[in-house]
Amino acid sequence: MKLDLSHTKPFLDDALVRNIESRISDTYKTVFDKTGAGNDFLGWVNLPSETDENLLADIEQTAATLRKKSDVFVVVGIGGSYLGARAVIEALQNHFAPLVDEKPLIVYAGHNMSEDYLVDLLQVLDKKDYSLAVISKSGTTTEPAIAFRILKNHLINKYGEQEAASRIVAITDKAKGALKQLANVKGYKTYIVPDDVGGRFSVLTPVGLLPIAVAGIDIRALVKGAVEMERLCKKQPTMENPVSQYAVVRHALYEKGLTNEIMVNYEPRLVFFSEWWKQLYGESHGKQHKGIFPASVTFSTDLHSMGQYIQDGLRNLFETVISVENADHELRIPTEADDLDQLNYIAGKRISEVNHKAELGTVLAHEDGGVPNIRIVIPEVSAQVLGELIYFFEMACALSGYMLEVNPFDQPGVEAYKKNMFALLGKKGFEAQTAELNRRLGL
Ligand code: PA5
Repeated sequence: MKLDLSHTKPFLDDALVRNIESRISDTYKTVFDKTGAGNDFLGWVNLPSETDENLLADIEQTAATLRKKSDVFVVVGIGGSYLGARAVIEALQNHFAPLVDEKPLIVYAGHNMSEDYLVDLLQVLDKKDYSLAVISKSGTTTEPAIAFRILKNHLINKYGEQEAASRIVAITDKAKGALKQLANVKGYKTYIVPDDVGGRFSVLTPVGLLPIAVAGIDIRALVKGAVEMERLCKKQPTMENPVSQYAVVRHALYEKGLTNEIMVNYEPRLVFFSEWWKQLYGESHGKQHKGIFPASVTFSTDLHSMGQYIQDGLRNLFETVISVENADHELRIPTEADDLDQLNYIAGKRISEVNHKAELGTVLAHEDGGVPNIRIVIPEVSAQVLGELIYFFEMACALSGYMLEVNPFDQPGVEAYKKNMFALLGKKGFEAQTAELNRRLGL
């Protein structure tokens, strides 16, 4: 991958950038020496290079067994327990996966509490052979727990206790949490989420690797890409490294008051990669009333919706564009003798070439409109490149968090809604707040 920062230069203050740059090696040291906040959650740093061959083989074996007997595979999890897998799977599968005969089709549950979503899913699963992974590090999260209870009962009704159990994989803590206890009692195949890897940093553990392998994607290539980026960061914890450049520039832009970063892609298959990135950065940095707000768009689609705001709205934005150099397939615009649609001026060109010109034109237009653009140029969308990108963004996230002086590895703010929801649902231990919350809601 290459980083192009030329479209940020007019917006940056040299002295400010130099000041942040001067701290980069120390910031890496904080990560590598585990001396910063949240240092018990740095397991992801060495994870790619230390991935156990036996674990990979075991995951591949389990995935092969599940693939054989499943038309559909349900990934039950929320936040970091499903976004990484979905980012990689949607980036690499056919855009129209539900309509082509690629089995199993990967679907998701436990990432919302929509009754209608679950009913629709159950109706589909009534007619399909399926299996599932239930993924929760804590093993106590409400959304996946509800979905899993429903789906577990559905599997038992469909296949009987024993076969249902063989179609369930639990990925959770090695000892703690309700899911672990349930898995022990029922005898499910289980994989462990390492203690020192937080949910949003866990895509390269079984949390992401098992569903990705079930989707038929080469998990070794994914890990290989991450290993390469890990090695680069360790060998070059300096400004030569694109990870450092990205972390420094986004922090410098933030210091200049640009508090919103928009992840831009020109490939709809990367929509969930942006969703994964949004969680990684939003949950890691949004603390103590600080942090860049992460947003995302897909161009050129959203140039016809959000494009107006980005070009002309409040100037507190910068963009990070994932630019893909090579499409997987070739399709050229045909020539037509009558040229009624007036497209002959681009006849013979590949669609990707037109897309690329749209990208470059937009970068310049947005720069002219006062929106700095960081470009991350990748050769292709492949498992190996995605592995590199995953580690790239994880390390940059840790560095950025320390530059911001927050703990990038906790998420205390997520508890607020849970406490209120539990009180409103009358959960044991939360009754003290129930009356006051009901009063505020007029209930
Ligand atoms: O990054 C995180 O820690 C969170 O987003 C979690 O992944 C999410 O809340 C799900 O938690 P759990 O895996 O414990 O169910």
